[in-house]
Amino acid sequence: MDRAIGIDSIGVYVPRLYVDLTGPWATARAAALSGGDVEKLVGKVTDGVGVRRMAVADAHQDCATLAAMAAKRVIDASGIDPRDIDYLAVGTETTVDQSKSIAAYVLGMLERHYGVSLPEVGAPQFQFACIGATYALEAAVSRMRAGDNTKPYSLVIASDISKYPLATAGEYTQGAGAVALLVSERPRLLALERGLCSTVTRDERDFFRPNGQTSAVVDGKYSIDVYLDCMEAAFAAYAKRVEAKLGLGGADLYDAIDYFCFHVPFPRMAEYASARVFGQLWLGDPQARARLAAEEVPLSGAPRKDFERALTRSRLFREAFAAKVAPSLTIAREVGNVYSGSLYLALASLLEETRGQSLAGRRILLGSYGSGASAKVLSGIVGEKYTAALEHLRVHDELRPEAEGGVRVPLSLSDYERLHALSDRERGAPLLPPRGEFALERLGTSSSAERTDVGYRYYGWIGG
Ligand code: HMG
Repeated sequence: MDRAIGIDSIGVYVPRLYVDLTGPWATARAAALSGGDVEKLVGKVTDGVGVRRMAVADAHQDCATLAAMAAKRVIDASGIDPRDIDYLAVGTETTVDQSKSIAAYVLGMLERHYGVSLPEVGAPQFQFACIGATYALEAAVSRMRAGDNTKPYSLVIASDISKYPLATAGEYTQGAGAVALLVSERPRLLALERGLCSTVTRDERDFFRPNGQTSAVVDGKYSIDVYLDCMEAAFAAYAKRVEAKLGLGGADLYDAIDYFCFHVPFPRMAEYASARVFGQLWLGDPQARARLAAEEVPLSGAPRKDFERALTRSRLFREAFAAKVAPSLTIAREVGNVYSGSLYLALASLLEETRGQSLAGRRILLGSYGSGASAKVLSGIVGEKYTAALEHLRVHDELRPEAEGGVRVPLSLSDYERLHALSDRERGAPLLPPRGEFALERLGTSSSAERTDVGYRYYGWIGG
């Protein structure tokens, strides 16, 4: 018998420090990025790319502390006993160790913080660029479906710090943050639909980070094309499965999906992905074709880029995008790309932005993508009692600057550049002394017959 398995609750953690991309940063970068025209750069970043601020990790933070913070948030909000978790999987592409799973570091932080022992918890790390956490989610759900779990919960955490070289087109698509998903049977939030997950993988050079490099190597424009091609193929495979399983195709499939959440390296990318996916669905639907033709969208003969550009200007698209996609993008505008967590931040954004409406019984599509490259498309149905799992989620409120009642603190350009220059092994002093959070306290330096720990990371909970 099919058991409902999926996401019971979500915890989000975003570092407090941020760069305002419309302020001194833009003035300093205009010479390199827009021929000295500050307004042009601000217009491109805020309207063309879709971001305003980007989150930056402090010196005591790394992908393990961010992951542990998100985990603590979901554990506390759900009121569960951490001993009821038997699988803790972390998806990350900005790991702090070439060998050890950072999930083991996270496990250690949680054990010490809650004063519990979790010796029988599986703690793998999944890596495949931004799609790693979705592979982790798939594994956690499959394990539960197979009945291999011994406890009621699994924890899947997406955690990353996205970094590109300064004064490049990648710089304004950086970000930092983590999202923890509590996975269970009879989930309150989103029951993932069994058999409706498609996967596509291609050996690609669009984005990668060779060993020893702190910033990614990216072929920006090409990375957009690869994302779109993979998403299109994964969506087509998903559509086939839906047709076979639920008998829904074309316009019926479009109507059956209430919300589309995509991987969001920057908000405009979700618009490009929507144009690709909606365009394919609408080309097969006589009614949509008639509406698009009336708006002079070239339905045949035009290069695909021209078709999609015209499509995104059409009323049909603007209305569909505003209703089914835009609510998932507001957090990303404030945080930037958090790599593996970006898709799940989009889900959190959607759930917060639709607070007050009833989403119970609605279908949400998750379009996950990781460079290198792989895409997965899956869907879930919102639970009847999902609002109870949302009460704690206040990401938008937190993302306001401290002066406006939130928790964020703006960075000066020089402090941002100092933090950007840090490596995993040379962290220096934090800008904001940690309080009420997990922190990297020190790196091991011993190398003797009694004890060797050079480079081991000592983490602790700093109260306050
Ligand atoms: P760019 O050079 O900043 O942008 O690169 P552009 O020149 O292509 O312009 C972007 C948009 O801004 C265009 O809009 C311009 O017209 C518009 P469009 O034509 O597409 O509609 N524009 C303006 N709009 C208003 N006012 C203005 C103005 N000027 C221009 N004044 C790029 C953008 C994303 C390539 C760059 O930031 C980059 O390389 N980022 C990093 C790579 C990336 O994010 N790739 C995304 C796909 S791959 C992916 O998602 C995986 C990833 O998350 C990693 C992983 O999987 O691990 C990255």
